[in-house]
Amino acid sequence: MKREAKVIWLLVMVLLLAACTGTPKQVPEKQVPPFSEKTKPIRIGFSMDTLLEERWLKDRELFKKSVEALGAEVEIVAANGDDALQISQAETLIQSGIDLLVIVPHNAEATAAIVHKAHLAGIKVIAYDRLVKNADLDLYVSFDNEQVGEMQAKAITELVPKGNYVFIGGAITDNNAHLLKKGVFNVLRPYIERGDINIIYDQWTKDWTPVNAQANMEEALRTTNMQIDAVIAANDATAGGVIQALAAKGLAGKIPVAGQDADLAGVQRIVTGTQTMTVYKPIQTLSQEIAKLAVAMAKGEEIIADRKVNNGKIEVPSVLLTPIAVNEHNLDSTVISDGFHTVGDVYGE
Ligand code: GAL
Repeated sequence: MKREAKVIWLLVMVLLLAACTGTPKQVPEKQVPPFSEKTKPIRIGFSMDTLLEERWLKDRELFKKSVEALGAEVEIVAANGDDALQISQAETLIQSGIDLLVIVPHNAEATAAIVHKAHLAGIKVIAYDRLVKNADLDLYVSFDNEQVGEMQAKAITELVPKGNYVFIGGAITDNNAHLLKKGVFNVLRPYIERGDINIIYDQWTKDWTPVNAQANMEEALRTTNMQIDAVIAANDATAGGVIQALAAKGLAGKIPVAGQDADLAGVQRIVTGTQTMTVYKPIQTLSQEIAKLAVAMAKGEEIIADRKVNNGKIEVPSVLLTPIAVNEHNLDSTVISDGFHTVGDVYGE
């Protein structure tokens, strides 16, 4: 019995010793890797179409600030309207080990290849402002672009309920241009069917550029013998081109023109009376929302999106923010009070 008790006592001691020497060594070894992984900041890739327009420069600044405010990093590239370049830039981002990709597609269809490549590397993709079509996109965040078109057409039909209309569309490669056109014609259709409004010119504008819009407007003036009562232009850049063409014929300020984006030049034209209205889309809200969702998604958190938008392949979880119609009467309470533009910039004071 005495001998057995001795053996048990010895065994207990051995076990205790093993417990004491083994455990403390394992704790730091096991905890170090996950701890250091957590402190590595999330890296977001941001692939932009272009920086040649005022609004996208704002988007770049605001998105960067919003991502960094969340403790994450952002790598930004811009392709200036070149589809092949946008794809190769996105590939480089994917290979560099980003945690998530945010994309403003130049071409809604061509960028599907980017979504596919990102997914092969286990990286989720969010479409920023413009939808990527025919792809397994993870999230789409934009403004309600159909509503933008409806706001333009409502404002112009209130001023010109009957007459000859010119529609200067956006880029055919951009899904937003199609949504906007749908919105415009939702409102115009009953007028057209009643015979009150005639669409005498309707054209897309390659890459949304003022120079292409101006050429379209010159053609519209030429082919209609200047019998034009109103113009709806897809954004302020194209409205700028339209107004230049009208000015060359002494018609600036005589024919109502609608735009979109509340670009400084557009807002100034509203003050001087050559542009009738614009649609303000608070980019600050858009960029903050996308930054928040991107960082959460990169961390593997579940995202609840209230809307679904069909992109030709799937029902994409979507967030659509509300645009604001702006004219000379509410400039101060919208773009100025929001800090989007200053009083000095708008009124030249
Ligand atoms: C659209 C966007 C507009 C305008 C345009 C040209 O996709 O909705 O706000 O900026 O692109 O860049």
